[in-house]
Amino acid sequence: MRLRTRLTERFGIEHPIILAPMGVLAGGRLAAAVSNGGGLGLIGGGYGDAAWLDAEFAAAGDARAGCGFITWSLANAPELLDLVLARRPAALMLSFGAPEPFATRVRAAGVPLICQVQSMPRARAAIAAGADVIVAQGTESGGHSGTRSMLNLVPEVADLLAATAPDTILVAAGGIADGRTMAAALMLGADGVLVGTRFIVSPESAAPAGFHAAIVQADGDSTIKTRTVDIARHRFWPEPDLVARVLRNRFVATWHGREAELTELPARTAASERYWAAFDAGDADNTGVLMGEAAGIIHEVRPAAGIMADMVEEAGRLLAAGPRLVAG
Ligand SMILES: Cc1cc2nc3c(=O)[nH]c(=O)nc-3n(C[C@H](O)[C@H](O)[C@H](O)COP(=O)(O)O)c2cc1C
Repeated sequence: MRLRTRLTERFGIEHPIILAPMGVLAGGRLAAAVSNGGGLGLIGGGYGDAAWLDAEFAAAGDARAGCGFITWSLANAPELLDLVLARRPAALMLSFGAPEPFATRVRAAGVPLICQVQSMPRARAAIAAGADVIVAQGTESGGHSGTRSMLNLVPEVADLLAATAPDTILVAAGGIADGRTMAAALMLGADGVLVGTRFIVSPESAAPAGFHAAIVQADGDSTIKTRTVDIARHRFWPEPDLVARVLRNRFVATWHGREAELTELPARTAASERYWAAFDAGDADNTGVLMGEAAGIIHEVRPAAGIMADMVEEAGRLLAAGPRLVAG
């Protein structure tokens, strides 16, 4: 099954699916698996680490790979952008923060610029920055997101683009994990989808088996938006509406609602040490497991290429058949 859209044509890819640049979990192996399977793989540059980026671009081998950064964090280490641009990435994605001055450097390098946005002011800023692709990210998403739902943000951004920047490609993110959700996003006006949580549950992701199992067992009610994970990781997000969605596990049950206490030393240091020890051990109950509401429709570990083939097959079938109407 082929679903050809402006996204597939612009990037010369088979499926209109982009791997979300998930910090640490979307490494070179997963990015390569998505690109080799017909999508566009983005390495999750996250908070930025030159040695990690080098290793993950090497792990992607000959596969086409792009990269994504957390924009406000990139401002603390702007040299990382040059390091990645020198590798001629397939695309460079900026999320969570003002796109300039980085956007200008990305465009000057001739690399396609993707901006992920969570609100209409951020969509306007992305247009002003000359984004080739805008990802409208709903609050269902795993990891950090804003407060808008994908269902209304995507068509609202689609209308804005139609009126002011018709050549800009629109991609939907948040809760997309199967053919149904993909078809819905395309019907809302998206040219493609950006997928995170579903790809974590693949053998090619860097997630430990404990994270896979936690997502497969979870339903959509098992996630919560909380600042506790960022406090434990000493990540201080500057914009208050951007909060991480994570598994509602023992770590969250212990600290959610006690953020002030967690912020105080020495509790923060002790909690942080336990957090990272559990993360390294793949203990999904005692660390932060960033994941979205899509967990409720993810039931098995599946290779990235198979995930995409299933999504496109089901979405194509649903789009051709139309909605489930009663005859007469
Ligand atoms: C584990 C995890 C880590 C993430 N890290 C980043 C990140 O470093 N940069 C970024 O732009 N988005 C990040 N995101 C958000 C994704 O870009 C994307 O918006 C989200 O995964 C889409 O929703 P979904 O998880 O329901 O597919 C992350 C998401 C997850 C689940």
